[in-house]
Amino acid sequence: MSDLSIQKGFFDASRLSVAPMMDWTDRHCRYLHRQLSGRALLYTEMVTAPALVRGNALHLLDHAPEEHPVALQLGGSDPKELAQAARLGFEAGYDEINLNVGCPSDRVQSGTFGAVLMKSPGLVAECCAAMIAAQPLEVTVKCRIGVDDQEPQEVLPEFLARVASAGVGRFSIHARKAWLQGLSPKENRDIPPLDYELVQQMRGLFPALHLSVNGGITTLDQVEAFLDAGLDGVMVGRAAYHQPTDILAAADRRIFGTTGPDATAEGAVRAMLPYIEAHLVAGGRLNQITRHMLGLFAGRPGARVWRRMLSEGAHRPGAGPRLLEQALVEIELASRVASV
Ligand SMILES: Cc1cc2nc3c(=O)[nH]c(=O)nc-3n(C[C@H](O)[C@H](O)[C@H](O)COP(=O)(O)O)c2cc1C
Repeated sequence: MSDLSIQKGFFDASRLSVAPMMDWTDRHCRYLHRQLSGRALLYTEMVTAPALVRGNALHLLDHAPEEHPVALQLGGSDPKELAQAARLGFEAGYDEINLNVGCPSDRVQSGTFGAVLMKSPGLVAECCAAMIAAQPLEVTVKCRIGVDDQEPQEVLPEFLARVASAGVGRFSIHARKAWLQGLSPKENRDIPPLDYELVQQMRGLFPALHLSVNGGITTLDQVEAFLDAGLDGVMVGRAAYHQPTDILAAADRRIFGTTGPDATAEGAVRAMLPYIEAHLVAGGRLNQITRHMLGLFAGRPGARVWRRMLSEGAHRPGAGPRLLEQALVEIELASRVASV
């Protein structure tokens, strides 16, 4: 496969992506999501460049071959350190390196990375140029539309132009500002208003860029509507985590045009069993995986029993795949009762 077709492949994959989410999109979560969609692009949690380069925490790069296509999200603002971290990501086998310019947490602000970098497009461009020069993978950026009292109409196009001039061709835009003073990271995902219209305008202004919209998208219908309206990609965060089946199970057919049958929650559970077994044999705990599986049956008969059985049972000593098999029986019973 030529380099170009590899890049094209990931352009396609990013028609639908699952957003990077700290503590949520770890390797077990990504493995689960991959059982529901073979095609959507998956992002890691943010890994900071200092942790990799200074802390030598290379275990943070661990992932399974089945997760591809998978992008590594980095946090940082030192071009040299980010370049080294990007190189490590390439060597670890990731498909894309993404820079976090959207996270508003205090810890991140004090290290000068995340959303505060919206104020320093020149530095972001320098970081991206260094990451591009250090390794062959595509470097992408996830950003906000602005921070604090910035005027998004002005700063977003300036930011995109400046960073694109460093060689970045693909952006995911969380379509709301981050307010760095006074709001918690959680509030910063809900309170600043969404401005999808502005992202659409950027689509018109920068026809050569690949732009994904992110923020507040909760159904596959909405994903399709954004793609139909001309956006290149849609990134879904919380909804993909809490209702993974709703967002991902039909995605290969509806978003990527494949012809096979849609995935099912039951199928995903069964596909997870050997993975879980191997995790337990290696000394891991069941709950480390099942905590990401609680929403698999969201909205379906038996969803509550499923959640309860997993949340209560997965901590118990000796808990293993059998618990999931028992919970699946409950789902089947609940479905039968509901259809009578
Ligand atoms: C628990 C959690 C952790 C997050 N961690 C990250 C992160 O590590 N990097 C990042 O760029 N965004 C992070 N975000 C923001 C999401 O990627 C996304 O931009 C945001 O949730 C809005 O999308 P949504 O409305 O589809 O959830 C996080 C969000 C949540 C809920």
